[in-house]
Amino acid sequence: MEFIDTKIQVYAEKHTDEEPVVLKELNRETHLKVLKPRMLSGHLQGRVLSMFSKMISPKYILEVGTYTGYSAICMAEGLQPDGKLITIDINEELESIVSKYVKKAGFDDKIIQKFGNALDIIPELDYTWDLVFIDADKDNYTNYYDLVIDNVNSGGYIIADNVLWSGKVVAKVKSNDTDTQALIEFNKKVHSDNRVENILLPIRDGLMILRKK
Ligand SMILES: C[S@@+](CC[C@H](N)C(=O)[O-])C[C@H]1O[C@@H](n2cnc3c(N)ncnc32)[C@H](O)[C@@H]1O
Repeated sequence: MEFIDTKIQVYAEKHTDEEPVVLKELNRETHLKVLKPRMLSGHLQGRVLSMFSKMISPKYILEVGTYTGYSAICMAEGLQPDGKLITIDINEELESIVSKYVKKAGFDDKIIQKFGNALDIIPELDYTWDLVFIDADKDNYTNYYDLVIDNVNSGGYIIADNVLWSGKVVAKVKSNDTDTQALIEFNKKVHSDNRVENILLPIRDGLMILRKK
């Protein structure tokens, strides 16, 4: 399900900063060589993440779900000069493509890749976060939120992707698939959590923006 009319989407992209050359190449190589290229954030959402990161000017960013590194590179654009972005993925086969493009983008001293189950890795990280991007397995969104929330600085942000799940979260016939149920639970939980303010932005597949009070 597309939420935005195609003509509007094209117009919005045309009137948004161009996709940087390195990201264009990464987008293309991902589509040519990697399974499920739809998972990559893409031009418009990538520029949104870059802009948010520049607005927040984070020192430490955590990303859960690297895939080929597209969103990591976008968010790294807003890091403070001595900042770091730690990105986790369970799929080690992605390491070479991520490293290649992180280097090309000039962020090899800023983006740290970790491989393994994010549920195991997050508790081992000794940082407090200014920005967290949750974009891995939907079943665990609530668990990732619970694992990070105490280490998000006051005034820091959590952004969760795909929270509209192609519109399945509002389907008339309730879907039994566990991902849809998990996202419905996640949206409900964070919306009623007094520790955060929230906006559900219907960009691409839905971005939940949370600001820790
Ligand atoms: C939607 S993709 C991330 C897309 C990327 N953030 C972007 O916008 O370009 C989700 C990624 O989460 C990873 N993943 C799934 N389950 C995971 C887990 N338990 N721990 C860490 N990574 C996981 C997958 O291997 C996949 O690469």
